[in-house]
Amino acid sequence: MEKKSIDWANLGFGYMETDYRFVSDYKNGGWDEGALIQDPKVVINECAGVLQYAQTVFEGMKAYTTQDGRIVTFRPDLNGERMENSARRLEMPVYPKEAFVKAVVKTIRANEAYVPPYGSGATLYVRPYMFGSNAVIGVKPADEYQFRVFTTPVGPYFKGGVKPLTIRVSDFDRAAPNGTGHIKAGLNYAMSLHAIVDAHKQGYDENMYLDAATRTKVEETGGANFLFVTKDGKVVTPKSDSILPSITRRSLMQVARDYLGLCAEEREVYAKELADFAECGLCGTAAVISPVGKIVDHGKEICLPSGMDKMGPVTQKLYDTLTGIQMGTIKAPEGWIVEV
Ligand code: PLP
Ligand code: COI
Repeated sequence: MEKKSIDWANLGFGYMETDYRFVSDYKNGGWDEGALIQDPKVVINECAGVLQYAQTVFEGMKAYTTQDGRIVTFRPDLNGERMENSARRLEMPVYPKEAFVKAVVKTIRANEAYVPPYGSGATLYVRPYMFGSNAVIGVKPADEYQFRVFTTPVGPYFKGGVKPLTIRVSDFDRAAPNGTGHIKAGLNYAMSLHAIVDAHKQGYDENMYLDAATRTKVEETGGANFLFVTKDGKVVTPKSDSILPSITRRSLMQVARDYLGLCAEEREVYAKELADFAECGLCGTAAVISPVGKIVDHGKEICLPSGMDKMGPVTQKLYDTLTGIQMGTIKAPEGWIVEV
């Protein structure tokens, strides 16, 4: 397979149209078997549930070229499972996780020419999503849906790659207790847009959201979970029912324990503890692990001892091990890697 002529090393995190996308329609109570198509446009009614009441959920995953030239993806079953949960919460029909994995693999295979080569620093981002497609004007779930998967080659999510980020504690809330913070619904991202535009205007890379009920506990950012490292080398991640259960974070906790022999703990993390940590990182499919160098809490600067030049040592080990597993240079736990 001849690769497309793309400047892989200089890709940002953006959309580039690739050749094929997968589409399956839900009508009369069932999904059709779906197919790969070439047209990137979606045609729906002006009153579609997604356009009026934001009935849409999505996933984010990546395909990688391994050192020995295979194309693989990482734990797609967990994305399929999370999308099932997201759909249930928004009263959408479930696209079964087994069919989800098949559709993802098929779409990656069809766009093989766009999977960046090993060592290029880029990956193929895969975006499965589904939405209410028929007209609804009263507030109720749609009767018809579309499930789709498209791909786009991407570079680092944050400009500057692995340069430590400066984030702020946000005055906006991301998710309410008993709300939708734990699912991957478009609505969670729509409401974060003002906060991120404002953060960028004020010179910050991202927002740290606190729990909406007490505003004392660390939740997550708009697109990634937090990992902290204590001064005695323990990995800590916030426990909350209103954050997205990140697949990267769950994997990193296992990597910390099983590969690095570290103690890894999921627990409530209080904002007042932030100054006690040695390292901080944002983890997610897009973010991988992006180090945080400084957290600004209403004018009070918390400078992580790992500094503003490079990742902290534990974060770096986690990053190297996870990306090694994804790129095939380190043996993966059973079931983590699916060959395309
Ligand atoms: N938190 C939010 C709000 C996200 O959008 C994402 C990205 O998917 C994550 C966390 C990280 O999740 P994952 O590691 O499954 O990509
Ligand atoms: C991902 O990491 O896949 C996401 O969906 C995050 C998004 C903000 C790009």
